[in-house]
Amino acid sequence: MSKITAAITAVGGYVPEYRLTNSELEKMVDTNDEWIRSRTGIEERRILKEPGKASSDIAVPAVQEILRKKNLDPKEIDCIICATVTPDMVFPSTANIIADKVGATNAWGYDLSAACSGFLFALSTGASYIQSGLYKKVIVVGVDKMSAIIDYTDRATCIIFGDGGGAVLLEPNEEGYGLRDSVLKSDGKGREFLHMKAGGSLKPASIETVTAREHYIFQEGKTVFKFAVVGMADVSAQIMERNNLTAADISWLVPHQANLRIIDATAKRMNLPHEKVMINIQKYGNTTAGTLPLCLWDWEKQLKKGDNIILAAFGGGFTWGASWVKWAYDSE
Ligand code: UT7
Repeated sequence: MSKITAAITAVGGYVPEYRLTNSELEKMVDTNDEWIRSRTGIEERRILKEPGKASSDIAVPAVQEILRKKNLDPKEIDCIICATVTPDMVFPSTANIIADKVGATNAWGYDLSAACSGFLFALSTGASYIQSGLYKKVIVVGVDKMSAIIDYTDRATCIIFGDGGGAVLLEPNEEGYGLRDSVLKSDGKGREFLHMKAGGSLKPASIETVTAREHYIFQEGKTVFKFAVVGMADVSAQIMERNNLTAADISWLVPHQANLRIIDATAKRMNLPHEKVMINIQKYGNTTAGTLPLCLWDWEKQLKKGDNIILAAFGGGFTWGASWVKWAYDSE
């Protein structure tokens, strides 16, 4: 019997309507369009403005798009894994909420917290269930409503992040399509440079934590940048080397969209020309776990059966990694 691989057989995505432009940010904090564009590549980001809406409300239309495209009964879904650092609530998991909202009543699921590498880690986890023969239909979601944890008086972070997310369907394949290999890493020492100070069991919410603005992202950008540039490029080169893939074999790099300069450094290390790199940071900013599935969503029509794609990410934790996927279908 041939080996079972986990193929991505459909993609869905969603971004909120509202566009927060650089010029609007200029009115909120001491920044300017030129600085943001040249340092990050970002022009605008999407924000989920409606009160009462959460990360699951971004994920649900993405999952529903998959159900529509595959003409799938939600009851056929076995498992939903949701990568996010902005769950609707601390518990229950957002995966459970998504399952309820889409009618996936036979699915179990859980959230996975790995910040910007969340989708990559969840993809590997979801694929294991397929490869083992345990399940036939696993949905992997990467979603974040970053505006819920951004301090819009902090120019060092508010210019970077946006809201959005996407999802993929994983199904068994016996022809070698799908997830072929992953290099995944984490180093908790990095927590010092990128974290949220309060709201966890270390420092539960109190009037003091709210007053001290500790429920927002804290990032020492320069340090994270230094680690990200090296980390993302290292694992991307490593996954190519150990699978004997040259730049000519790679159709697409799907990089986490944190900073255009980090993306450029990774592509350079892989010897990949600009045309082979998915970049949508200019319109969505950094949507944390949402960036990779949003790239797949934006580029789905250009992807061809057999394409070798490398997904790569670096983020809070630190967490980082790269995965090699052999694309399984041509879009109609
Ligand atoms: O996705 C999760 C992982 N996160 C990342 O990968 C993010 C990694 N870090 C970065 O992308 C970059 O570090 C940032 C975009 C966050 C910042 O860019 P930078 O080139 O590292 O800037 P910096 O923090 O070194 O600041 C340079 C200067 C400083 O002024 P002085 O000290 O040189 O006078 C800052 O105060 O730019 C100033 N600055 C700003 N100026 C205008 C910082 N933020 C802003 C701003 N607008 N928004």
